[in-house]
Amino acid sequence: MKVHSLLLILISVIPGLQGAPTFDADIRPLFKKHCTSCHNPDKRKADLDLSTYAGVLAGSSGGEVVKAGVPDTSWLFESITHVDGVEAMPPKKPKISEDAIATIREWILGGLVESSGGKSMLREITFDVTAGSSAKPEGEPAMPTGLPEVERKISSRSPAVTALAASPWAPLMAVSGWEQILFRHAASEETLGILPFPEGTIHDLKFSRNGSVLIASGGRGGESGKVVLFDVKSGKRIAEIGDEEDIVLAADLSADHRYVALGGPAKVVKIFDATNGKLLHRIEKHTDWITALAFAPEGDQLASADRSGGVHVWEAGTGGIVYTLDEHKVHVADLAWRADGKMLASGADDGKMVLWDMKDGWPSKVVDAHKGNTDDRYTRATGILSLAWSRGGSLITSGRDKRVRIWKADGNREWESDEMESLPITATLLSDSKTGWLGMYDGSVVATGKK
Ligand code: HEC
Repeated sequence: MKVHSLLLILISVIPGLQGAPTFDADIRPLFKKHCTSCHNPDKRKADLDLSTYAGVLAGSSGGEVVKAGVPDTSWLFESITHVDGVEAMPPKKPKISEDAIATIREWILGGLVESSGGKSMLREITFDVTAGSSAKPEGEPAMPTGLPEVERKISSRSPAVTALAASPWAPLMAVSGWEQILFRHAASEETLGILPFPEGTIHDLKFSRNGSVLIASGGRGGESGKVVLFDVKSGKRIAEIGDEEDIVLAADLSADHRYVALGGPAKVVKIFDATNGKLLHRIEKHTDWITALAFAPEGDQLASADRSGGVHVWEAGTGGIVYTLDEHKVHVADLAWRADGKMLASGADDGKMVLWDMKDGWPSKVVDAHKGNTDDRYTRATGILSLAWSRGGSLITSGRDKRVRIWKADGNREWESDEMESLPITATLLSDSKTGWLGMYDGSVVATGKK
């Protein structure tokens, strides 16, 4: 661990020891001053009693009003910060003081502690933080064994394979299905297990750098979104992170398993503590939907991209910016770090692929990777749909031109496929740097690559 990150952890823990807000000491007096004239056992506006701890947790006629660790989507916090579309509290009055709001925020972030010495309601996730690393895991790499039988769901709606990932160490792929994730053997193509994802459509799948955890994210448009971490071996849910009001389009877990990042139509990058689901940072720099997120193979750097060409790199520990990567002008479809962390690749709707040197954030190579042939009306579609590095340092891209290309580490083209029948929406490259697996618009999963 780097020295400065250790210091930061110490600094952030000390104030906690000196007295994080509790309901009895800090919140009850605030509610008494501003809220309980209307929210008490006798006069329960909206069926909400804010005079007791139990009453706050019980919530209102509309459901829970506070969520441990996540003030931003806690109804009560939205009401006192006057978020659009939420009844402002107290009604017809100015906001309560900034200090009072900050105290309530801290109390929710800290896990809704009742009284000093009381238990935090942050979810305690038994999650081996030290297990995460991009080094080859000791022993056999994780493969699913003995997952519970789940019936395969088939949908009459779009069957498109919206997300696909390959384990960096095992012959294993994860493929999105209809509210399900399928584990497939990368050689025999046999289905090795099915993970239910009742949260909705799956928009992103990734394996952790050591292959032990599958990160699945998605949700229902305009309604809900979440990130779910699955243990690859047992198929068990390790954690559910975020409780969004719209889909999650992209998510990732840091190499040390310490941070989870997510983003989507809300244009906000959120970074959570993976061990307890606590929101650490809310980054509001993007001006459009977040379309891709990727943690570096080592350390805590996080790259994020949006629908208007914005690409940034952050430090997850502090939430501070490292680089703004300025080259794309249009929708950036995908981002991927090379295994050595020295290069970041981004691919956009205009067919451009950029290789960024992460030493200084400079675009070391810009390639027209899927430009389309404007003279030929059949192949003129332009745009990159997906890109991924193999562990060996080659890069695969798929495009709207229905072709797939494999690139050398320096960005020179090595191989290209024939035109395919369907759109290759997602692509992944196995560690041999030759075999690509594609998730297609027509629902199929096909192998491609150099023979
Ligand atoms: C003057 C009376 C009054 C005061 C003071 C007041 N509220 Fe309310 N509160 C209401 C009413 C009335 C509603 C129902 C609003 C609606 O749904 O139209 C409500 C609704 C709410 C809701 C939404 C619950 C739901 O199901 O609609 C929350 C959360 C809430 N109040 C929190 C607070 C907090 C926190 C304070 C103090 C900072 C506060 N209120 C102060 C009258 C009050």
